[in-house]
Amino acid sequence: MGEMKTRSVVQLVHATSQPEGEGMIVTRPFPTAHLDQLDPFLLLDRMGPVSHGPGEAKGAPDHPHRGFETVTYILEGAIEHEDSQGNRGRIGAGDVQWMTAGSGVIHSEMPSEELRRNGGRLHGFQLWVNLPRRDKMMKPRYQELRAAEIPTATSADGKVTVTVIAGESLGTTATIDTRTPIMYFHVRMAAGARFTQPIPETYNAFAFVIGGEAQFGDRSARENDAVFFENDGDEVTIASEDGAELLLLAGVPLNEPVTRYGPFVMNTSAEIRQAMFDYQTGKFGEIGA
Ligand code: FE2
Repeated sequence: MGEMKTRSVVQLVHATSQPEGEGMIVTRPFPTAHLDQLDPFLLLDRMGPVSHGPGEAKGAPDHPHRGFETVTYILEGAIEHEDSQGNRGRIGAGDVQWMTAGSGVIHSEMPSEELRRNGGRLHGFQLWVNLPRRDKMMKPRYQELRAAEIPTATSADGKVTVTVIAGESLGTTATIDTRTPIMYFHVRMAAGARFTQPIPETYNAFAFVIGGEAQFGDRSARENDAVFFENDGDEVTIASEDGAELLLLAGVPLNEPVTRYGPFVMNTSAEIRQAMFDYQTGKFGEIGA
């Protein structure tokens, strides 16, 4: 075995939280004016954490997607979804929905009925993963995992627990299948913990701190800080003096042209026009059809 090299931090960005819709708070490390994507990742949204009063919780009614994947990971509360492929279901605390929109779906993403009626906590993440050109028009695909079905791994000293949503960590491999190599880990670190995750140098990688404080070399990051890593090593090392909770993501860059228009992400503007035409002429189907 050769010697591993720790990646340096290229940029640390504090993501600002903003109200979106009624009562929802969204924190978006990217895209921003400074960073439009971290190939192959197009967007990360933290939803909440927010405490809704009765009748306050609003969601995203029927809308289309084409050319990429949406990954929903709920930590508190529940989202109900329904789509033009005839799928419907509930994503509750700890559950993941990995939706490959491919050629196109129309779906709704709403806080659960009881959350809308009675109010309550909502906290979760939505990640957008770009699809390579060869997969943009693939048949839509769903992978939905209950919390109990998502593998977790614990470090030998018991101080680090990793929920392995995609990729492999601490010898544990995810159940979810990705179109291109992706790592998606939810890392919980106790006080005094140290965590090293191998990530090939070619992968783009970043961490997003959910809570607590974590050290990346000589950089310290707190809640809602996104830490972007340089492609100058083959592992990421994280330490925490007082405990921390974070997401760690990495993926092989597609290195293809990206043309995005709202819910459509294609390679060319002609393909975007086609997506709009197909959507307007009913080619995406409809919910409940
Ligand atoms: Fe959506």
